[in-house]
Amino acid sequence: MQTITTVAALSQAVSEAKRQNKTIGLVPTMGALHEGHLSLITRARKENDVVIVSVFVNPIQFNNKEDLEKYPRTVEADCRLLETAGADVAFVPAVEEMYPEPVTDVYHFGPIEEVMEGPRRPGHFSGVAVVVRRLFDLTQPNRAYFGEKDYQQIAVIRSLLQQTGYPIELVPCPIVRASDGLALSSRNRRLSPAARAMAPAIYETLCQAVEMSETDDVEDVKQFVVDNLASYHLVNPQPDGLQFEPEYFEVVDATTLQPVQKWKGENGVVGCIAVWLDGVRLIDMVRFR
Ligand code: PAF
Repeated sequence: MQTITTVAALSQAVSEAKRQNKTIGLVPTMGALHEGHLSLITRARKENDVVIVSVFVNPIQFNNKEDLEKYPRTVEADCRLLETAGADVAFVPAVEEMYPEPVTDVYHFGPIEEVMEGPRRPGHFSGVAVVVRRLFDLTQPNRAYFGEKDYQQIAVIRSLLQQTGYPIELVPCPIVRASDGLALSSRNRRLSPAARAMAPAIYETLCQAVEMSETDDVEDVKQFVVDNLASYHLVNPQPDGLQFEPEYFEVVDATTLQPVQKWKGENGVVGCIAVWLDGVRLIDMVRFR
């Protein structure tokens, strides 16, 4: 595996692959790699001749300074993992390499970004779009792989591809969960042992919501999810006042991401949640139909 830190060296590797008519699979990451990322790389490995994995904590997609500072950075361990996972190139640029000039580009995604993460993380999706477009420009991939845990991000990238007309196949990949159900996330590393033990209740609650959706209205199920998590610590007393603070749980059309009132829809229906626990913001999603 080649570890590349400069745009010039990456362009050279990409030109060489293109010259040999090789297909390129891109897996954009912010590092602190886990099994979820590895599943994207395994899929990219099967479907492409060359697999490029970027490891870059993108400062312009963080609207919260503390979150950026605390974001886990484990570059050496990441590169070791990438080597074993079969990546061909690890692209690990410094911030100045990715952004030699101040970033002025702003992207808009209309109704897709007006719900859930959008209003709560102003500028986040535009920051994601800037870095992803730059990675697309640099690597010219045939396919790009993204995890479904960041469900809204996938809709944003789909819209970015429509806006740019880039002929890149977007490959959404299913969430990978720990054996207790918690969706794998780099942020899980920041949970205390007590919070980590409590966190699987998020997915348990989502599974209960799916069962309830057979008989109950959308609004009742939404209320259940929020109440169940918000009152978890009352039913299961926790050390140090640990408690879930649900930020939102939305039931939305799987493609347009607009809130729905009925379980049936031609695009399918998903539930997306953001919950604070132990100072860490966790997100997850589940399919209803
Ligand atoms: O999902 C992520 O890890 C990031 O948002 C991405 C796509 C790598 C862009 O920085």
